[in-house]
Amino acid sequence: MEKDANRVYIFDTSLRDGEQVPGCQLNTVEKIQVAKGLESLGVDIIEAGFPISSPGDFNSVVEISKAVTWPTVCALTRAVEKDIDVAVEALKYAKHKRIHTGIGTSDSHIKYKFNSTREEILERAVKAVKYAKKFVEDIEFYAEDAGRTDNEFLAKVVEAVIKAGATVVNIPDTTGYCLPEEYGAKIKYLCDNVVGIENAIISTHCHNDLGMATANTMSGLLNGARQAEVTINGIGERAGNTALEEIAMIMRSHSDIDLWTNINSQRLYPMSRMVSGLMNMPVQANKAIVGRNAFAHSSGIHQDGVIKNMSTYEIIDPKDIGLDGNSIVLTARSGHAALRTRLEAIGIKVDDNRLDELYKQFLVMADKKKEVNDEDLLVLAGNENKDSHHIKLDYLQVTSGLGVRPVASLGLDIAGEHFEAASTGNGPVDAAINALKTIIKRQMVLKEFTIQNITKGSNDLGKVHMQVEYKGKTYYGFSANTDIIAASVEAYIDCINKFTDR
Ligand code: KIV
Ligand code: ZN
Repeated sequence: MEKDANRVYIFDTSLRDGEQVPGCQLNTVEKIQVAKGLESLGVDIIEAGFPISSPGDFNSVVEISKAVTWPTVCALTRAVEKDIDVAVEALKYAKHKRIHTGIGTSDSHIKYKFNSTREEILERAVKAVKYAKKFVEDIEFYAEDAGRTDNEFLAKVVEAVIKAGATVVNIPDTTGYCLPEEYGAKIKYLCDNVVGIENAIISTHCHNDLGMATANTMSGLLNGARQAEVTINGIGERAGNTALEEIAMIMRSHSDIDLWTNINSQRLYPMSRMVSGLMNMPVQANKAIVGRNAFAHSSGIHQDGVIKNMSTYEIIDPKDIGLDGNSIVLTARSGHAALRTRLEAIGIKVDDNRLDELYKQFLVMADKKKEVNDEDLLVLAGNENKDSHHIKLDYLQVTSGLGVRPVASLGLDIAGEHFEAASTGNGPVDAAINALKTIIKRQMVLKEFTIQNITKGSNDLGKVHMQVEYKGKTYYGFSANTDIIAASVEAYIDCINKFTDR
């Protein structure tokens, strides 16, 4: 890897740390789509998975390794030889490969997680790096919970693993606890005190539990780190990881800090929408850079200023992140070409057959809604596999209102056979789900149920996320429909379709 003093390498972990979010799991085909998107975005390293964790993760690392050319493909391991063996096997086809191995270094991890000692942890870290180095040249070592690790001991570990062959040393703030000043000082301490630090790249890996992931990452970079571990839209466990788009645009906007990346910023918006759509994870409206309102000026004074000169209130030109500004409004009169153009603008490439299918669904939606926007298209494109589902909702009829007990009747297609049922409930959704349960008699418990509208207006699509517990496991379901009761029943069915013992 070339070493330019001001170049910051972007390491995307959307497919590993990001994908660990409950309900956001992707299948291998979807992961390949994301990986190829990351490649055209200009990401330097793609963390493709944790191969020993499941056959699905193993397979994704194999397939992503085959699918991308320029980025380094990275696989995560614990500091365990078997993990490393499996990762080496999964990376067999990668043109550029990296093993990311490591161990917890904070006193809390050493005592409670490993019931061990600092000396033993140091030994295990060195052993893992030396072992991985036998198979792969590019080895990244992570000191888990480095944010809460004593700096002197952290420096000792970092020095030892670099001596053992680590090319990158990752300093994760695993719990998102550090203050920006503290995290920056930690990186500086390593730069100043580790013998041989010039032989490795220091990496930041920050979590957002206290809302400081981006600030901490920047502080790390300003103090000598040259790799940032990030995810699209900041997805990740709990409050998420550092958002790629924020870090990339900070460096692009601030010429005063003289740091640069290989990111093609015009791919940021399409990539954000692709990941959001595939993971069914809406982007918060006021999210920096890619939120729906990030460039919406609503106050009269701001609107007046922006009309006179954009620079009065905008520090980023929306075109720089791939927002074309004219956001073509699709209606029932739009044709195939307009639909394809808009889909491509948000990162969805389709062949002619798929376009025809989507166009039919688009017309149904456009008849219900006056305008079909980007978020709606993501929902349409995400409905891809519904036709092949084991259980499908044939019809649903609900009567509800003030002063009446809600009643629902529905028809289900279960593997080609038709079933019908009716029930009452304390609300229309309850009535519909009770009807569903008289056909599908399982011990299922609805644990979480959220309804969001996507844009605005009473004709909007409602998105429903559900979590259903069944036989001790939690299943995640999703659907979107202009009818929120239908969306709720479909989301419940989506959960049932995922039961492993159907
Ligand atoms: O947050 C963390 O510490 C991690 C490591 C496994 C790199 O994700
Ligand atoms: Zn992490």
